[in-house]
Amino acid sequence: MNSFRNQVYSVIWHDNAVLLLDQTRIPNEYTFVEISRSEDMAVAIKTMIVRGAPAIGVAAAYGIYLGAREISTDNRDEFLSHLEKVAQMLRSTRPTAVNLFWAISRMMKVAYETLGTVEEIRTALFQTAQAINAEDLQTCQAIGDRGLKALPSHPEKLTLLTHCNAGALATAGYGTALGVVRSAWQHGRLARLFADETRPRLQGARLTAWECVQEGIPVTVITDSMAAHCMKQGLIHAVVVGADRIAANGDTANKIGTYSLALVSKAHNIPFFVAAPLSTIDFSLADGSQIPIEERDPAEIYQIGDTILTPAGAEFYNPAFDITPAELITAIITEKGVFTPGELKHLQEKQTV
Ligand code: MRU
Repeated sequence: MNSFRNQVYSVIWHDNAVLLLDQTRIPNEYTFVEISRSEDMAVAIKTMIVRGAPAIGVAAAYGIYLGAREISTDNRDEFLSHLEKVAQMLRSTRPTAVNLFWAISRMMKVAYETLGTVEEIRTALFQTAQAINAEDLQTCQAIGDRGLKALPSHPEKLTLLTHCNAGALATAGYGTALGVVRSAWQHGRLARLFADETRPRLQGARLTAWECVQEGIPVTVITDSMAAHCMKQGLIHAVVVGADRIAANGDTANKIGTYSLALVSKAHNIPFFVAAPLSTIDFSLADGSQIPIEERDPAEIYQIGDTILTPAGAEFYNPAFDITPAELITAIITEKGVFTPGELKHLQEKQTV
């Protein structure tokens, strides 16, 4: 149920409910949480049982459908007004990844535009959630194919570096940045992946390394502060990361630590790629300064398990994402092609998105 041709699925519709692979427990436990209420879906997104921009988009789409099931009225206006409240609850879970808002908007558009009974709206919402899920999987595979062609042609076997987890766990399957890594591996172009551990939530050490081990992709985990040293030693040929939101000028929000990785890549003349679906581009924002940055519980910094790491009296700041300026990005790999940040505006003009 959960894996097909070595693929991992983080969000599965099964037996009238959503199964979420509990990403807070990987790699030590491989368990699913069954979600059948929209409120529980909101909690699962907030607490990062499901995480990664496209995956939370898919989860929120199902969350809207679960909400639609919970509303008991047959009156269309009343139904839509209750559904707005569900949408608002899901929107308030995490502020940075635009895919969440994109998926909810798409679902709500379907709700408003489906003429007919409330039951017909519910059916259309279910079909749309299923479509968002299926499309994301195809999109990731296309990103993998496009990315493979964008990688440096020398040496034949590349060592890539990634940050956080932009893999199957973070999407409907296959992954964006890790999709490029997977394609490189399948085509004999990958020698090894270096995975930044990604403090404080350790998505690289726990999730990216886990996905690689599942598939036999050679992976070396380093702490975030080791990347510059590895580059200086000539160990890294290119960097590929995912994105949570890309502004119209190419400025990119991604997991905290991505910006410093881009700076050290530039200093060592190493190509820095962002891999993301077009749905991650937010053309309504001119640049990255307008992207909201989530700030999370400081306990993520000062506590591991039951152990407190820091002295009483210390203060904390825990932004979950940072903005990498467009000028540090070599190219953005999407399902429709590989673009320099400056080329994004032509995409918008052509209205291909
Ligand atoms: O806080 P997270 O784990 O949801 O952050 C995830 C990332 O930053 C990913 O790199 C991004 O969402 C892209 S996932 C394909």
